[in-house]
Amino acid sequence: MATSTTSRGNWNSKLGFILAAAGSAVGLGNIWGFPTQVASNGGAAFLFIYLLCAFAIGFPVMVAEITMGRKTGRNPVGAFKVLGDNKLLYSAIGMWGLICGVMILAFYTVIAGWTVSYVFEEVFFYLGMTDWAAWISDTGNGPINAVFATLFMGATISIILGGVSDGIERATKFMMPLLLIILVVMIGYVVLQPGAGVGLEIYLLPDFSKVTPDLILSAMGQAFFSLSLGMGALITYGSYLSKKENIPEAATYVTLMDAFIAFLAGLLVIPTMYMAQAQGVPIFDDSGNLLASAALIFQVLPELFHEMGGLLGLIFGGTFFFLLSIAALTSTISLLEVPVSYAIDEHDLKRKSAATYIGGGVLAISLIISFDTSLIDHFVFIFNEIGLPLGGFLICLFLGYYWKTDNALAEMQEGYPTVMTSFFGRVWPLFVKVIAPLAILYNLLSGLGII
Ligand code: PHE
Repeated sequence: MATSTTSRGNWNSKLGFILAAAGSAVGLGNIWGFPTQVASNGGAAFLFIYLLCAFAIGFPVMVAEITMGRKTGRNPVGAFKVLGDNKLLYSAIGMWGLICGVMILAFYTVIAGWTVSYVFEEVFFYLGMTDWAAWISDTGNGPINAVFATLFMGATISIILGGVSDGIERATKFMMPLLLIILVVMIGYVVLQPGAGVGLEIYLLPDFSKVTPDLILSAMGQAFFSLSLGMGALITYGSYLSKKENIPEAATYVTLMDAFIAFLAGLLVIPTMYMAQAQGVPIFDDSGNLLASAALIFQVLPELFHEMGGLLGLIFGGTFFFLLSIAALTSTISLLEVPVSYAIDEHDLKRKSAATYIGGGVLAISLIISFDTSLIDHFVFIFNEIGLPLGGFLICLFLGYYWKTDNALAEMQEGYPTVMTSFFGRVWPLFVKVIAPLAILYNLLSGLGII
């Protein structure tokens, strides 16, 4: 029988890990969530606060997660079990992460399904089959949502079945560069179009009068979601990382890549929205507020693609939704890998059964959501807006005060021998023990209206 470490799998290379982790991070959160939040929250002012949250709160938590994963070589529940001397209380933190991940995957799969159905929508529209186009893109149609969610989950499971290096690493190594190329080419086209300049101005000129506690809370929630933190995805990915690698360096690349792709997505989506407005597509509601994010992506943008018409509309629209689909897929695989690694490590399941059963179980929840999409907002609120920051908060407390930052730094010495005396090694403990948990706590309490 294979030993537990070899049967768990490993990344083949440092680049493989970075791209897989960046693939987890880069998703609908970057290409859909970030630009629409920026547009309605003071442009570059939001960007600025977001970057602050990503680097001052997100990055230290990311290093914490990867280190816990690599030290223990386990899934989030197992990692807390090992480091917390089997105390139930500590594994409960990992279990909370696992639950959040499963629930996020359930609604994420439905939205990811829409991104695929809209590729078809663009094709049908181009072919003049407008009825079909309207039918397939009706996000209120339960059976259609269910079909696309099933397809998407099927694709996710099939990659997970391939394992860590042959499945996840291979797929993300191919998809991430593709995503970057599509993004850059589309930006090149959009910024030259009429109306795009207004969008660029709104995006790049900060309006600091819009900075409120609410905005800071959304920026922090966005940073947690976008960096895939607080639920153990990076504990899991870190558990496949070789002892040769430098953890803070790898985490820096992942954070930078995530922020860079979010920034690029802003350069694409915000000018595109204003281009749509220049063509007469309404982007504000009656009271002058920007339309809700789902409406912007799934109504405004397709209308613009239709206005463009012909082959150009098809290429532009089809490519945009294809871009969203691959970004979503590299994230769903990380969301599914967490409970799968848990079942493999803790319950001795084979990867094949774990991926099929768990993927199937999560799909069952996705199917319920497919028929009642109003559930998405509740799921987002509980598992994403509260669940992830809460998970991050508990991870900081556990690492900072129970496992201790010195032990974590000792783990980081493998691959980064001088970490203890480095600038990072001197300030990181302060961020994990004090700054990040206090900032998260304050934001959570004020977001819930408690303070
Ligand atoms: N980071 C992903 C996104 O931006 C979502 C995600 C959250 C993935 C949590 C894994 C874990 O869309």
